[in-house]
Amino acid sequence: MERTVVLIKPDGMQKKIVGTIIDRFEREGLQLIGLKLINLTQEMLETWYAHHKDKPFFKDLSEFMKKTPVVAMVLKSPNAVNRVREVIGPTDSTKAPKGTIRGDHGDSIQMNVVHASDAPERAEFEISLLFKSTEIFG
Ligand code: CMP
Repeated sequence: MERTVVLIKPDGMQKKIVGTIIDRFEREGLQLIGLKLINLTQEMLETWYAHHKDKPFFKDLSEFMKKTPVVAMVLKSPNAVNRVREVIGPTDSTKAPKGTIRGDHGDSIQMNVVHASDAPERAEFEISLLFKSTEIFG
C-alpha cells in the first residue's frame, strides 16, 4: 500500500469541482484516508515549493495558492502516487489529454486544478506538513 497527497488548488475550488475530483479518485480505487480545508500560509508554501523558490513563477504561484482555502487529501492504494498522476495528467493543463482532471478542467501550467505528490517519500513529507497522525484514517 502507498499513500499520496492531493491538493485541490484555488482554481479547482472556484470552479466548484471538489466532488467531481474526489469521485474520479474513488472510481479509480483510491481510498480517501485524510481530508480537510486549509489556508496555506506563505511560510508553508516556501517549505512546500522550496525547490521552486528561486524560479521566476514562484511569487505568482504563491499568491495564487493563497487566494482561497484549498482541499488537502490523502489517498491510499497500491501504487497510489503513479495512479493519481495518471488520473490528473501532466502539469501543463494545455498539454493534458481529455479525460484527465487537468485536461478536462485546467487552464494553464499554473492554474492546473490539483497538485499531487511526485514520489512516495515526497508524499510522506507532504503528509507530515499538513496532517497530524490523528487526522489520517487508514
Ligand atoms: P504543482 O504540481 O503544484 O507543482 C508546482 C507548481 O508550480 C505546478 O503544479 C504549477 O502550478 C506551477 N508551475 C510549474 N511550472 C510552472 C511554470 N513554468 N510557470 C508557472 N507555474 C508553474
